[in-house]
Amino acid sequence: MVLIGLYDKFLNSYKIRSMKEAVEELGHEIVHIRQWSLIWEINNCKISGLESAPDVIYISNMGRESNQIANYRIHSLKELNKTIPTINNPKIISISRSKIASTIFLNNKNIAQPKTWITEKPEEVISLLEEHKKLVLKPDVSSRGEGIFLVKQEHDDLYSLLDYFSRKYGQGLFLLQEFISSPDGDYRVLVIDNEVIGSVRRKLSAKSSRITTNSFQGGQMSKYEDDELTEAAIAVSKRLPSGFYALDFVKQDSQFLLLEINSCPGWSSFEKFTQIPVGIPLVNFLSSLVK
Ligand SMILES: Nc1ncnc2c1ncn2[C@@H]1O[C@H](COP(=O)(O)OP(=O)(O)O)[C@@H](O)[C@H]1O
Ligand SMILES: [Mg+2]
Repeated sequence: MVLIGLYDKFLNSYKIRSMKEAVEELGHEIVHIRQWSLIWEINNCKISGLESAPDVIYISNMGRESNQIANYRIHSLKELNKTIPTINNPKIISISRSKIASTIFLNNKNIAQPKTWITEKPEEVISLLEEHKKLVLKPDVSSRGEGIFLVKQEHDDLYSLLDYFSRKYGQGLFLLQEFISSPDGDYRVLVIDNEVIGSVRRKLSAKSSRITTNSFQGGQMSKYEDDELTEAAIAVSKRLPSGFYALDFVKQDSQFLLLEINSCPGWSSFEKFTQIPVGIPLVNFLSSLVK
């Protein structure tokens, strides 16, 4: 029997219910670690507040309270990871939270991604738009497609648009990306320990005026199988610490480009559209990490 620590804010979300079912079926146990319940005694290198010490920790949700909280949680999880195996690796969670850190990481790992620029200067954004005509504008930290826009050079008043983006989302920073037009949508592959669990395609709803295919933005999901996509996902996952990821790709000509590593992914829609269970392989993977 393995005691799995479930690091999350919720006690009864889809993920938690799915994990609980899998744990019961496989004869293991769960202890909840509420994100705010830990106390970190820095001088004694001790973290207390755990109901009982788990054999392995699954970071199911990091929370979105603030950057300070995220920073603290990442550091404390890194500390816990010194003595307890932790999935995913807190370092990669920290990288994947930030689009700036992610694009730099992907580039260093030679993982193909859309061309990306980062600048604080609105004039630079405008000159990039003169060259590229349209670009995707993103904030450093976003999820569910919030704050992600396609900006076009022909827009009547680019300076006010950039000012609006900056105040509402970018906080002075512009992350720009080549727009990869993929009429068939984008692709999400779930990977556990370098094995593909399954993949889905996410398409914009016909009525959408946005470019984001996230399900929160009305994107429509369907099961998708493609050997080349599987290969691309395995190649990416081999460059990451072993773990459980949702890898998002777009396709340009015949090449899959990585848009994003989701390191605390949900799987309710994935299970609904693929009928592929995620809880069981995930719990099997977690328990395999316990010596
Ligand atoms: N460079 C791009 N070209 C085309 N579409 C993009 C691009 N970047 C993002 N998108 C669309 O926006 C969605 C959200 O972008 P993403 O970078 O994954 O941010 P989030 O973390 O908010 O999900 C993607 O799933 C995709 O549909
Ligand atoms: Mg995304």
